[in-house]
Amino acid sequence: MSRLSGDTATGKSSKRSTSTGKSSENALRRETVGIDDISVYIPKLYLPVTGEFAASRGIDPAKLTRGIGIERMAVPDVHEDAATMAAMSLLELMRRANLKPEEIGKIYVGTESAVDEAKALGTYVIGMLEQVYGAGSFQDCATVEFKSACIGTTQALEALSYWAAAEEEDKVGVVIASDVAKYPLRSAGEYTQGAGSVSLLVKKNPRLIALEGIFGSFTRDENDFFRPLGATTAVVNGKHSNQCYLDAMQGAFDAFAAKARRKGVIVPKEGECVTDFFSHLLFHIPYPRMVEYASAAIFEHYWQGQARWKEVEAEIGAEPKPGDYESPDKFQAAKSDYSRQFAKSKHFLDAFKSKVLDTTSISRLVGNIYTGSIYLGLASLIEQERVKSGDRLCFGAYGSGCSALVFSGLVQSDAASVPKRDLFQRLERRTQIPLADYERLHEGLKEKSIIAPSQEFALTEIDHQGYRHYGWIG
Ligand code: HMG
Repeated sequence: MSRLSGDTATGKSSKRSTSTGKSSENALRRETVGIDDISVYIPKLYLPVTGEFAASRGIDPAKLTRGIGIERMAVPDVHEDAATMAAMSLLELMRRANLKPEEIGKIYVGTESAVDEAKALGTYVIGMLEQVYGAGSFQDCATVEFKSACIGTTQALEALSYWAAAEEEDKVGVVIASDVAKYPLRSAGEYTQGAGSVSLLVKKNPRLIALEGIFGSFTRDENDFFRPLGATTAVVNGKHSNQCYLDAMQGAFDAFAAKARRKGVIVPKEGECVTDFFSHLLFHIPYPRMVEYASAAIFEHYWQGQARWKEVEAEIGAEPKPGDYESPDKFQAAKSDYSRQFAKSKHFLDAFKSKVLDTTSISRLVGNIYTGSIYLGLASLIEQERVKSGDRLCFGAYGSGCSALVFSGLVQSDAASVPKRDLFQRLERRTQIPLADYERLHEGLKEKSIIAPSQEFALTEIDHQGYRHYGWIG
């Protein structure tokens, strides 16, 4: 779709219009489409994974902080669920961008924590927002839910970008990710839990990131992670899920690289490979170490055969060859061992540090927020001022079940004009809860909120029909 590619190769957007304003100059130019702003909502409660939690589970805290990469898990209070969190991040986005309800044409919600089997979560969100903006204020806005495990929001973003490119009445779209990541108590998934919501403002001539319109996908039927109807916690085959993530990411990356080459957008010359074209790579973050595994696999794959591989071999030795091993199993084991050595090599660690590590800073303090995790990575880069005009970003989304979607975007010249969110300071202001409170919240045994809601949306009642009632608590 040509309107998506526009003049993005320069990393410059057309002259900035306000979030809804018209610009005749824009009409004459090929317009870009992408992310204009981002807002994040994280619950006010958190549980440190070191201390009481690690001790009660008999886990060395270093395994959690270094082996998994997690320090704190965000915990939703009694009055919070995926709908309230989505409403909170949308409200913040609207206030940041000075958006009026009638300016929003579509709200696409990515979630795997749906609060109803039929009713779209976005309708509950609109109901909440109308308590602030007035009854009927969103009646022209369409909403739909995208469920595809952690990739739902990215599928929604792709779909919404096509709508935004075709939109002729200057309306904007919003993609909301909202999830509570929940595994059984005392399971190996427990320390990767988290909760939160991210909203993305999607429009023409965005201030932050123009999408380049190249999406590479990979899909395969897998049982790595799922939540059967009625279950409140996910079933996960942990090690298998890591492997599915790596396989799917590689497949989607290859599809992206081939498409980018065909379209003449990324055409590596002798001595170059596709990863060289990105300032940052943002992967789905189920836990920060997974991003390290993914980066190592991707860099190893694309660096092999390049001149730089000689330097890698000088550091960690030559790659195993099938003929040197008596069985395919022994060869595979040697290859896995070699990949582990690569992941510890100076060459890889330097690339990881400069292009990937900073995407995980917020996730270390929040945990997995499922479909919004990759966009927490984007917020993390922005808040740490790690992106600059002209940077090309690579996004690698993954959703269990399983599929991956890789796409790219260019940081726009107006990016620095988008106000910060003080996310790290906000995360510092959260309230630490004891293990006993966390466990009671997890099991749905707490009846009263730990922090009484104030200036926020809250679930106030589930009535005899199962209908959920939400209110703005002033
Ligand atoms: P585990 O059993 O905790 O992991 O399961 P482990 O024992 O393999 O240890 C992990 C790392 O800690 C290893 O590092 C250990 O060596 C290290 P590595 O060897 O790989 O470098 N370690 C230590 N480090 C320092 N000090 C120590 C120590 N001990 C060990 N004392 C697993 C981990 C992620 C599998 C588990 O937590 C789990 O099942 N989590 C949930 C599933 C998940 O997150 N899967 C990720 C891929 S699937 C995905 O991303 C989709 C998802 O987001 C859902 C969706 O799509 O909707 C989940």
